[in-house]
Amino acid sequence: MKIVILASGGGSNAMAIMQACKDPAYPAKVIAVISNVQPAGVLTKAMSMGVPTYVIESKSKSREKFEAELNARLILLNPDLIVMAGFMRMLSAEFVNEWLGKILNIHPGLTHLYPQVGGPGKHGHHVHETTLDLKVKVSGATVHFAIPQVDGGPAIIHSVVPVEESDNADTLAARILPTEHQIYPIAIKLLATGKVKFFAVKDEKAPGGTRYECWVNENTTSVLPLPVGGIPWELPQAA
Ligand code: GRF
Repeated sequence: MKIVILASGGGSNAMAIMQACKDPAYPAKVIAVISNVQPAGVLTKAMSMGVPTYVIESKSKSREKFEAELNARLILLNPDLIVMAGFMRMLSAEFVNEWLGKILNIHPGLTHLYPQVGGPGKHGHHVHETTLDLKVKVSGATVHFAIPQVDGGPAIIHSVVPVEESDNADTLAARILPTEHQIYPIAIKLLATGKVKFFAVKDEKAPGGTRYECWVNENTTSVLPLPVGGIPWELPQAA
Protein backbone atom coordinates (compact mmCIF):
# COMPACT_ATOMS: atom_id res chain seq x y z
CA MET A 1 0.00 0.00 0.00
CA LYS A 2 1.49 3.33 -1.11
CA ILE A 3 1.09 6.10 1.45
CA VAL A 4 1.48 9.86 1.18
CA ILE A 5 1.74 11.68 4.50
CA LEU A 6 0.40 15.21 4.89
CA ALA A 7 1.90 17.08 7.84
CA SER A 8 2.67 20.57 9.08
CA GLY A 9 4.74 20.20 12.21
CA GLY A 10 7.34 18.25 14.08
CA GLY A 11 6.34 15.01 12.45
CA SER A 12 6.61 12.54 15.33
CA ASN A 13 3.61 10.61 14.01
CA ALA A 14 5.03 10.68 10.49
CA MET A 15 8.29 9.34 11.90
CA ALA A 16 6.53 6.49 13.71
CA ILE A 17 4.83 5.53 10.44
CA MET A 18 8.03 5.81 8.40
CA GLN A 19 9.83 3.66 10.95
CA ALA A 20 7.11 1.00 10.85
CA CYS A 21 7.38 0.99 7.05
CA LYS A 22 11.10 0.22 7.25
CA ASP A 23 10.20 -3.33 8.24
CA PRO A 24 10.00 -5.31 4.97
CA ALA A 25 7.11 -7.31 6.44
CA TYR A 26 5.05 -4.16 7.03
CA PRO A 27 2.39 -3.95 4.30
CA ALA A 28 2.79 -0.25 3.47
CA LYS A 29 5.40 2.17 2.18
CA VAL A 30 5.61 5.94 2.53
CA ILE A 31 6.20 7.26 -0.98
CA ALA A 32 6.18 10.95 -0.07
CA VAL A 33 5.68 13.49 2.68
CA ILE A 34 3.94 16.74 1.78
CA SER A 35 4.12 19.70 4.14
CA ASN A 36 2.07 22.86 3.81
CA VAL A 37 4.57 24.70 6.04
CA GLN A 38 8.24 25.37 5.57
CA PRO A 39 10.48 24.85 7.48
CA ALA A 40 8.93 21.90 9.31
CA GLY A 41 10.49 19.19 11.44
CA VAL A 42 8.60 16.60 9.45
CA LEU A 43 10.55 17.52 6.29
CA THR A 44 13.88 16.97 8.02
CA LYS A 45 12.64 13.67 9.44
CA ALA A 46 11.45 12.46 6.04
CA MET A 47 14.75 13.39 4.42
CA SER A 48 16.62 11.49 7.13
CA MET A 49 14.53 8.43 6.23
CA GLY A 50 15.13 8.85 2.50
CA VAL A 51 11.49 9.69 1.83
CA PRO A 52 10.81 12.25 -0.94
CA THR A 53 9.41 15.54 0.35
CA TYR A 54 7.25 18.20 -1.23
CA VAL A 55 6.28 21.61 0.09
CA ILE A 56 2.98 23.08 -0.99
CA GLU A 57 2.63 26.20 1.07
CA SER A 58 -0.86 27.13 2.15
CA LYS A 59 -0.02 30.50 3.67
CA SER A 60 -1.42 33.50 1.82
CA LYS A 61 -3.13 31.28 -0.73
CA SER A 62 -6.83 30.74 -1.25
CA ARG A 63 -8.21 27.39 -0.18
CA GLU A 64 -9.08 26.62 -3.80
CA LYS A 65 -5.57 27.33 -5.07
CA PHE A 66 -3.90 25.37 -2.28
CA GLU A 67 -6.16 22.38 -2.71
CA ALA A 68 -5.78 22.42 -6.50
CA GLU A 69 -1.98 22.28 -6.08
CA LEU A 70 -2.22 19.57 -3.45
CA ASN A 71 -4.62 17.55 -5.55
CA ALA A 72 -2.40 17.84 -8.63
CA ARG A 73 0.58 16.54 -6.67
CA LEU A 74 -1.45 13.69 -5.18
CA ILE A 75 -2.74 12.65 -8.59
CA LEU A 76 0.87 12.42 -9.79
CA LEU A 77 1.91 10.43 -6.72
CA ASN A 78 -1.16 8.19 -6.99
CA PRO A 79 -1.24 6.95 -3.37
CA ASP A 80 -3.50 4.19 -2.10
CA LEU A 81 -3.82 6.08 1.15
CA ILE A 82 -3.36 9.68 2.33
CA VAL A 83 -2.36 9.94 5.96
CA MET A 84 -2.80 13.25 7.77
CA ALA A 85 -0.36 13.38 10.65
CA GLY A 86 -0.48 16.74 12.36
CA PHE A 87 -1.72 18.40 9.19
CA MET A 88 -2.97 21.77 10.36
CA ARG A 89 -4.91 22.84 7.31
CA MET A 90 -8.60 21.99 7.14
CA LEU A 91 -9.54 20.32 3.86
CA SER A 92 -12.77 21.25 2.09
CA ALA A 93 -15.64 18.81 1.68
CA GLU A 94 -14.96 18.79 -2.09
CA PHE A 95 -11.37 17.73 -1.55
CA VAL A 96 -12.25 15.07 1.00
CA ASN A 97 -14.98 13.69 -1.24
CA GLU A 98 -12.49 13.26 -4.07
CA TRP A 99 -10.37 10.99 -1.90
CA LEU A 100 -13.15 9.62 0.28
CA GLY A 101 -12.27 6.37 2.02
CA LYS A 102 -8.61 6.94 1.26
CA ILE A 103 -7.76 9.64 3.82
CA LEU A 104 -6.94 9.02 7.47
CA ASN A 105 -6.44 11.53 10.26
CA ILE A 106 -5.29 11.31 13.85
CA HIS A 107 -6.93 13.36 16.56
CA PRO A 108 -5.50 13.69 20.08
CA GLY A 109 -8.85 13.17 21.78
CA LEU A 110 -11.64 10.64 22.09
CA THR A 111 -13.95 12.20 19.54
CA HIS A 112 -16.32 9.25 19.65
CA LEU A 113 -16.88 9.40 23.36
CA TYR A 114 -16.72 13.18 23.60
CA PRO A 115 -17.57 14.83 20.26
CA GLN A 116 -16.98 18.25 21.86
CA VAL A 117 -13.21 17.68 21.67
CA GLY A 118 -13.32 17.62 17.87
CA GLY A 119 -14.51 19.86 15.05
CA PRO A 120 -13.30 23.09 13.48
CA GLY A 121 -10.78 24.90 15.68
CA LYS A 122 -10.28 21.91 17.96
CA HIS A 123 -6.63 21.17 17.50
CA GLY A 124 -3.53 21.13 19.69
CA HIS A 125 -4.13 22.60 23.13
CA HIS A 126 -7.77 23.35 22.41
CA VAL A 127 -8.48 19.62 22.34
CA HIS A 128 -6.86 18.98 25.72
CA GLU A 129 -8.35 22.09 27.33
CA THR A 130 -11.81 20.98 26.22
CA THR A 131 -11.12 17.48 27.57
CA LEU A 132 -10.07 18.95 30.93
CA ASP A 133 -13.13 21.22 31.02
CA LEU A 134 -15.32 18.15 30.56
CA LYS A 135 -13.84 16.72 33.80
CA VAL A 136 -13.71 13.27 32.26
CA LYS A 137 -11.52 10.46 33.56
CA VAL A 138 -10.03 9.29 30.27
CA SER A 139 -8.71 10.70 27.06
CA GLY A 140 -6.67 9.27 24.21
CA ALA A 141 -6.15 9.51 20.50
CA THR A 142 -8.32 8.44 17.59
CA VAL A 143 -7.34 7.35 14.09
CA HIS A 144 -10.31 7.90 11.84
CA PHE A 145 -11.28 8.24 8.20
CA ALA A 146 -11.61 11.83 7.05
CA ILE A 147 -15.11 12.78 5.93
CA PRO A 148 -16.58 16.18 5.02
CA GLN A 149 -17.47 16.85 8.68
CA VAL A 150 -14.22 17.82 10.43
CA ASP A 151 -13.15 15.14 12.94
CA GLY A 152 -16.47 13.38 12.40
CA GLY A 153 -15.28 10.35 10.45
CA PRO A 154 -15.55 6.76 11.63
CA ALA A 155 -12.74 5.53 13.86
CA ILE A 156 -10.46 2.62 13.14
CA ILE A 157 -8.69 2.54 16.46
CA HIS A 158 -8.15 4.62 19.56
CA SER A 159 -5.89 4.67 22.56
CA VAL A 160 -6.97 5.41 26.10
CA VAL A 161 -4.99 7.21 28.79
CA PRO A 162 -6.09 8.39 32.22
CA VAL A 163 -6.76 12.07 32.88
CA GLU A 164 -5.17 13.03 36.20
CA GLU A 165 -6.57 15.75 38.43
CA SER A 166 -3.24 17.56 38.27
CA ASP A 167 -3.18 17.56 34.44
CA ASN A 168 -2.90 20.60 32.27
CA ALA A 169 -3.05 20.62 28.46
CA ASP A 170 0.71 20.02 28.21
CA THR A 171 0.86 17.03 30.54
CA LEU A 172 -2.18 15.46 28.93
CA ALA A 173 -0.78 16.00 25.42
CA ALA A 174 2.52 14.46 26.51
CA ARG A 175 0.72 11.36 27.81
CA ILE A 176 -1.33 10.96 24.63
CA LEU A 177 1.35 11.58 21.97
CA PRO A 178 3.32 8.32 22.50
CA THR A 179 0.05 6.38 22.15
CA GLU A 180 -0.52 8.10 18.79
CA HIS A 181 2.78 6.66 17.64
CA GLN A 182 1.53 3.20 18.62
CA ILE A 183 -1.91 3.29 17.07
CA TYR A 184 -1.25 5.00 13.73
CA PRO A 185 0.99 2.22 12.35
CA ILE A 186 -1.53 -0.35 13.63
CA ALA A 187 -4.44 1.39 11.90
CA ILE A 188 -2.53 1.56 8.61
CA LYS A 189 -1.58 -2.09 8.86
CA LEU A 190 -5.19 -3.10 9.50
CA LEU A 191 -6.25 -1.16 6.46
CA ALA A 192 -3.43 -2.46 4.26
CA THR A 193 -4.28 -6.04 5.16
CA GLY A 194 -7.96 -5.64 4.30
CA LYS A 195 -9.18 -5.74 7.90
CA VAL A 196 -10.84 -2.35 7.73
CA LYS A 197 -13.65 -1.36 5.43
CA PHE A 198 -15.07 2.09 4.92
CA PHE A 199 -18.67 2.63 3.85
CA ALA A 200 -20.58 5.71 2.77
CA VAL A 201 -24.28 4.91 3.06
CA LYS A 202 -27.15 7.09 1.89
CA ASP A 203 -29.13 8.14 4.96
CA GLU A 204 -31.59 11.01 4.92
CA LYS A 205 -31.22 11.53 8.65
CA ALA A 206 -27.44 11.96 8.51
CA PRO A 207 -25.79 15.35 7.98
CA GLY A 208 -25.46 15.92 4.23
CA GLY A 209 -27.56 12.81 3.54
CA THR A 210 -24.67 10.37 3.97
CA ARG A 211 -23.71 8.21 6.91
CA TYR A 212 -20.13 7.02 7.13
CA GLU A 213 -19.12 3.78 8.78
CA CYS A 214 -16.04 1.73 9.18
CA TRP A 215 -15.85 -1.88 10.22
CA VAL A 216 -12.79 -3.36 11.80
CA ASN A 217 -12.21 -7.09 11.64
CA GLU A 218 -9.66 -7.45 14.37
CA ASN A 219 -9.77 -8.40 17.99
CA THR A 220 -7.02 -7.49 20.32
CA THR A 221 -6.53 -8.50 23.89
CA SER A 222 -4.45 -5.48 24.77
CA VAL A 223 -6.07 -2.67 26.68
CA LEU A 224 -4.16 -0.09 24.73
CA PRO A 225 -4.93 0.51 21.99
CA LEU A 226 -8.57 -0.44 21.99
CA PRO A 227 -10.06 -1.28 18.62
CA VAL A 228 -13.31 0.36 17.73
CA GLY A 229 -15.81 -2.00 16.22
CA GLY A 230 -16.20 -5.65 16.94
CA ILE A 231 -19.06 -5.72 14.48
CA PRO A 232 -19.63 -8.97 12.52
CA TRP A 233 -17.54 -9.08 9.40
CA GLU A 234 -20.06 -10.43 6.88
CA LEU A 235 -21.64 -7.16 5.96
CA PRO A 236 -23.77 -5.93 3.11
CA GLN A 237 -22.00 -3.78 0.53
CA ALA A 238 -22.81 -0.11 0.78
CA ALA A 239 -24.77 1.49 -2.04
C1 GRF B 1 -0.58 15.20 17.19
O1 GRF B 1 -0.96 15.36 18.53
C2 GRF B 1 -1.77 14.92 16.35
O2 GRF B 1 -2.75 14.17 16.99
C3 GRF B 1 -2.29 16.29 16.06
O3 GRF B 1 -1.16 17.09 15.89
C4 GRF B 1 -0.06 16.52 16.61
C5 GRF B 1 1.04 16.30 15.62
O4 GRF B 1 2.23 15.92 16.20
N1 GRF B 1 -3.20 16.28 14.95
P1 GRF B 1 3.45 15.44 15.29
O5 GRF B 1 3.71 16.56 14.26
O6 GRF B 1 3.09 14.17 14.63
O7 GRF B 1 4.60 15.32 16.24
